[in-house]
Amino acid sequence: MGVGGSPRRHGNTEILLEKALAGAYENGADVEFVRVGDLSIDHCQGCNSCFNGGECRINDDMIGLYKQLDEAEVIILASPVYFSGLSSLMKQMIDRCQCLWARKEVLGGSIGGPGRIGALISVGGQNPPTFRNSISVVKSYFNSIDVEYSAELLVPAVDEKGDILNQPEILEKAYDMGVCLVSGRSGS
Ligand SMILES: Cc1cc2nc3c(=O)[nH]c(=O)nc-3n(C[C@H](O)[C@H](O)[C@H](O)COP(=O)(O)O)c2cc1C
Repeated sequence: MGVGGSPRRHGNTEILLEKALAGAYENGADVEFVRVGDLSIDHCQGCNSCFNGGECRINDDMIGLYKQLDEAEVIILASPVYFSGLSSLMKQMIDRCQCLWARKEVLGGSIGGPGRIGALISVGGQNPPTFRNSISVVKSYFNSIDVEYSAELLVPAVDEKGDILNQPEILEKAYDMGVCLVSGRSGS
């Protein structure tokens, strides 16, 4: 499962994510691509109602996404660097997974099957951009939903839409990441 968190359709983040998903698909995986910006996702209200039963009381597109996140064996999160962190689209989606955290940490349940792995793809316009905040958030998120942080592809100095197409070796790295994730190895 690839989750794209850039508001810019077919921008650098999505191009890399699609490459990674192509690598996975061409090596036998069922893949799905979710563009967070296409979904209607409200902010987490911090109401803690999910502490009773593990369900979020907000009825929006997260309902379907929770199911997809629960069923995915491999999750790739892809986000541009925005002000030294994840895009707000991606962060908003992550915050809404507080109910998954609650299922595990408050209610003692589990999320997903065993051995789940995940990866982060990120691009930034500066050289070097600050990736460490995004890495930190994604590691924390993956930990909360029982996904092992297994690979990362972090690309600096990519700013204009489609800039990444000038770096075929990075596109290849993204493809290889998808291949490696499907076979359960680190794709970094
Ligand atoms: C609101 C905003 C904030 C940004 N902040 C940063 C930043 O802190 N560091 C950086 O390296 N690039 C930053 N950028 C540049 C983007 O990361 C860069 O343009 C990237 O290629 C966008 O990816 P996309 O084509 O997938 O949307 C920012 C861009 C925007 C629109």
